Amino acid sequence: MARIVVVGSINMDLVTLVPRFPVAGETLLGERFLTVPGGKGANQAVAAARLGAQVVMVGAVGRDAFGEQLARGLVEEGVDTTHVTTRDDVGSGTASITVAEGDNQIVVVPGANAHVTATQVEAARALIERADAVLVQMEIPLETVEATVRLGRAVDVPVILNPAPAQPLPREWLAQARYLTPNQHELAAVLGDAGDTDFRELMRRAPCPVVLTRGGEGAWYREQGEPLHQHGFSVDVVDTTGAGDTFNGALAVFLRDGLEVAVRKACAAAALSVTRLGAQGGMPTRDELEAFLGSRAGA
Ligand code: RIB
Repeated sequence: MARIVVVGSINMDLVTLVPRFPVAGETLLGERFLTVPGGKGANQAVAAARLGAQVVMVGAVGRDAFGEQLARGLVEEGVDTTHVTTRDDVGSGTASITVAEGDNQIVVVPGANAHVTATQVEAARALIERADAVLVQMEIPLETVEATVRLGRAVDVPVILNPAPAQPLPREWLAQARYLTPNQHELAAVLGDAGDTDFRELMRRAPCPVVLTRGGEGAWYREQGEPLHQHGFSVDVVDTTGAGDTFNGALAVFLRDGLEVAVRKACAAAALSVTRLGAQGGMPTRDELEAFLGSRAGA
C-alpha cells in the first residue's frame, strides 16, 4: 500500500450547473445547485485514498459547518486528518464553481487554507520521511509549498508539485521538486513565459522533470531527453472539475511502478473522474480503475 502525504487546501465547492456561462452583468437561471467537498489538496487526498493508498492530509479548515463537514468527509474516505488544524479566526475555504458546456469556471476564497503553515509541514516530518510520495499544490501559502518541496528533497522523498493556481516560481527551489505537474498554461506561468512557446520546449527548459496534463489529449512526461506522450481515454464528459486532482493523486499512488505506468493509470483515473458530477464524485476505486484499464487494453 502506497503511503502518501498531501499538503494542501480543503474547500467546500458551491457548484451551479448552467446551460452556458453568463456574461458580465447578466443574470442567468441555473439548473441545479449543490455543495460538495473539494479543494485541490483534499481532492488529491481522496483520489489517492480511493486507489488504496494510506493518506495523511496536512491542511486547515475553519470552525464552522463547512469545516466540520469537510473534515468528516475526509475521515469517511479513510484519510488521516490528524494534521488538519481547525482555525477559530477564519472560515473554511470555499470555491464557487460554475459548470457549463463540459467545462467550468472557479473562484476560490482561501479562508483557512491561507493559514496552512510550514510549521505544520515540519510537524508531519516523521510521516513525510516514511512516505512514498508527497503531493502539494498552490492554494496554500507559497512559503509552505516551498517548505514542503525542500523537506521532501532533504529526506529524499519524491514531492509532486501541482502548480495550480499557477504563478512564477523561483527556479532554485523548483529544481528540488521530483515532478512538476502543470497543464500547458500553468507551465508557462511558472516559468514566466509569455505563453507563446511550444509546451515541449517549456518542458525541456524546466529545472525539474515535468508531467504535463492536456485534458482529453492525455499527458506528456519528461525525466530527461525528449518529452513522451500518453494518450487520453475517451469518455462521456459530465464535469471536468477535479480531473487534474485525480490525475495527481493517481500519479503519486502508482509512481512506484515507474513513471510510464503511473502516467497511463493517472490518465485513466482522470478520464473516469469526469464521467460524474463534483470534483470527488467520479474518482475511481482501484477496482474500478483496473476494470476500466482492462476494458481499454491495447488502447
Ligand atoms: O481542482 C478542482 C478544485 O479547485 C475544486 O474542488 C475547488 O475547490 C478548487 O480548489
